[in-house]
Amino acid sequence: MTKPSQNPVNKFYVTTPIYYINDVPHIGHAYSTIAADTLARYWRTQIGDDNVLFVTGTDENSKKTVEAAKEAKLPIEAYTKKTAKAWQGVFDNLELSYNRFIRTTDNDHVKTVQDILQKVYDKGDVYKGVYEGKYCFRCEAFYKDEELIDGKFCPIHKKPVETLKEENWFFKLSKYEKQVLDYIEANPHFIEPESRRNEVLSFIKNKGLEDFSISRETQDWGIRLPFDESQVAYVWFDALLNYVTAAGYGTDEFNKWWPANVHIVGKDIIKFHCIYWPAMLLSAGLKLPEKVFAHGFFTIDGEKISKSLGNSVDPVELTKKYGNDALRYFLLREIPFGADGDFSFERFKVVYETELGNKLGNLVARTAAMLSKYCDSTYGQNKVVVPLELDDDITNLKFESYLQKIFTRIEELNGVIEETKPWELAKTDKVKVKEVLSGIASELVELSKWLSPVIPEAASKIQKTFSSGKVDSSVGILFPRIES
Ligand code: MSP
Repeated sequence: MTKPSQNPVNKFYVTTPIYYINDVPHIGHAYSTIAADTLARYWRTQIGDDNVLFVTGTDENSKKTVEAAKEAKLPIEAYTKKTAKAWQGVFDNLELSYNRFIRTTDNDHVKTVQDILQKVYDKGDVYKGVYEGKYCFRCEAFYKDEELIDGKFCPIHKKPVETLKEENWFFKLSKYEKQVLDYIEANPHFIEPESRRNEVLSFIKNKGLEDFSISRETQDWGIRLPFDESQVAYVWFDALLNYVTAAGYGTDEFNKWWPANVHIVGKDIIKFHCIYWPAMLLSAGLKLPEKVFAHGFFTIDGEKISKSLGNSVDPVELTKKYGNDALRYFLLREIPFGADGDFSFERFKVVYETELGNKLGNLVARTAAMLSKYCDSTYGQNKVVVPLELDDDITNLKFESYLQKIFTRIEELNGVIEETKPWELAKTDKVKVKEVLSGIASELVELSKWLSPVIPEAASKIQKTFSSGKVDSSVGILFPRIES
């Protein structure tokens, strides 16, 4: 593999959204984290483990947490500890290779938020005002009447909004309108995909940026403002700052990691990441991230994932049966990253059986078996004639085309077996058989390097099967048939 042709990359810092703990983790949440994990794994192979930082975690200081703790009849600290642990447990089960699991209740994060709040206050970017408006507690955001459905319902959750009137501290977002706009225009890859970039640009140009309230008067749970102990920080102001906390804000480490290379987010939260966040960073005198990539949403059997429909798919249940690789492969191969898509068990099983089982698994098994049978379990490590060049696909988060190209090659290799029929050739030409099978084994070793960020377990099994010219048949079947 070669390094990408663009700027040399010395370090790579990737983040996911941090998740609200009142929800149970479903495959929608696993999606952002699997994509970030894939990038992190790729970059580790390029620049080494020490130069990659991959952060995920939980967003705990919202009003929803207070309500959920009440419902669970637990003191709030105990509730957050328990649920954050459960979230982390899910990510561990999925073998997501995060370097830090950040919680917004972590001490260093509280310190970061207070420090930055004080900075923006000292700069004169914060003032006190009264705000009355329609508020969605699920989004933790105010909406204008014209943004609501029928003037009543949240455009994202389709649930009624509440009227909120509070005396709050406001952040001068309007002051940064031009700078944010200039940054987006000067950096065509800052917001991706392009459709989201256009959405943000037209939002700024058509509506303009209004100051937003960054504190809550009536909430006790949260991070206290350093300049007004009677209020807590608005949960989004707090949550976005997790990205700088985790990069080591306030320590020498920070210079190494900041700015982030990619924030992976869902399309529902681009306003926060592409407008509020750059403005906050500008005010705090910090550099802006290189890229915010917004992926789409997926439905389950055509329906929105929702608690009330009870259709949320537990990623751990699914992977217990099919393995982590299968879920990773399905999500990144089926849904072009950035677009919306659908998850159905039917389709999942088809992809598992045909692509992973029949195409990849069979190729590995057949090649290994024939090398054992006809070539004494040894093969010549050939140089791959036309190696794939996929760095640009993966560094640009084009996971779908990345995998499609790898699987085209896998099909070609299956085709070589069908055409050359090594089982017949073995009767007449031992040298030729070894040549054909050595070629395939060498290609598989090369392919396994590309596969390893996406399906790490299978990739390492392929490497073990064909390690250093000798076939190890003890590895077993990569994607066994599963009875449903
Ligand atoms: N806590 C905020 C994020 C703060 S980041 C500084 C939040 N949390 S969330 O738990 O509600 O959602 C987090 C992310 O989960 C979404 O942005 C999206 O990435 C992902 N998804 C949740 N449901 C999803 C689908 N149905 N499909 C794809 N992704 C989904 O927002």
